[in-house]
Amino acid sequence: MLQSTSPVPQHIAIIMDGNGRWAQERGLPRAFGHRAGAERVKEIVEHCSDLGVKYITMYAFSWENWERPEEEIHQLMRLLDEFIRRETPDMLKKGIRLQSIGRIDHLPEDTVQHLKQSIKETAGGKKICLTLALSYGSRQEIVDAVRTVAGQVKSGELNPKDIDERSIQQALYTADYPDPDLLVRTSGELRLSNFLLWQLSYTEIYVTEKNWPDFDIVELEKAITEYQKRDRRYGKTKSTAKESERISLRS
Ligand code: IPE
Ligand code: IPE
Ligand code: MG
Repeated sequence: MLQSTSPVPQHIAIIMDGNGRWAQERGLPRAFGHRAGAERVKEIVEHCSDLGVKYITMYAFSWENWERPEEEIHQLMRLLDEFIRRETPDMLKKGIRLQSIGRIDHLPEDTVQHLKQSIKETAGGKKICLTLALSYGSRQEIVDAVRTVAGQVKSGELNPKDIDERSIQQALYTADYPDPDLLVRTSGELRLSNFLLWQLSYTEIYVTEKNWPDFDIVELEKAITEYQKRDRRYGKTKSTAKESERISLRS
C-alpha cells in the first residue's frame, strides 16, 4: 500500500528490460515483446503523473543497442516513431512534457523530426516531464560533457581550477533535471547497463523479476512503496535529511 504520509519520488528512472524474454516465454518473436513493452509506457507515465511524480526518465534504446541485429533495431525505431506520433496529442492534453537524452542524431531522420516536433509541442506541459533515453549511453554523455567543459576552458569562459561538480553536472544532457530518487530495473538484472552513472550516485535502486511488458501500475506502486521505506542517508550517520533535501554539490 502506498503511504500517503511519505512523499512519492520526485524523479523516477526506469530501465525497461525483458521485452525479449517476455516474448520468448510465450514462444513469440522478440518484436512482439517490444510492441507489448511500448504499450506499457503510457499507463506508467500517466499513473506516475497522477501520483505526483514530476520527472520520469525511461531507458528506451541504449548506445550499445545499436549493436543488435538490423531488423530488431528497425522494429524498435518503428515503435518509437509510432509512439511519438500516436501519443503527442494525448501528452498535450494531459500536461506531459516530452524530452530526450542521448545522441539522437543517430536515429532515423524522420523520427528525429517527429521527436523534435513533439518536444516543441509539449513544451508547456506542467504535470510531468517524460524523458526518453534514446541512443543513450552514460559514458558517451560524460565524453560529450568533457568536450563541452574543454570548450569552455579553451574559450577562456572557465578556468580549470574552477571546474567543480556543478560545472560537470551542467554539461550533462540532464543539466535541467534533478537526480533520480528511484531507479527501477525490470527483469531481474543487477546492473546499470551504462544508464545515468553520474546521476544515480545516491538513487535508491529497486529491481523486480517482472519483465517490462508485465510491469503494470500495481508493480509501480510496489516499487514506490518500497522506496518509501528506505532511509536515505547520503553518507551521513543517520537520516536527518528530509525527502526534499538534496545533496549539496561541493566543489
Ligand atoms: C528491453 O528489452 C528493450 C531494449 C533494450 C531496447 P530487451 O530487448 O533487452 O529484452 P531481453 O533483455 O532480451 O529480455
Ligand atoms: C538496457 O537493457 C537498455 C534498455 C533497457 C534500453 P539491455 O538489455 O540493453 O542491457 P544488458 O545488455 O542486459 O546489459
Ligand atoms: Mg535486455
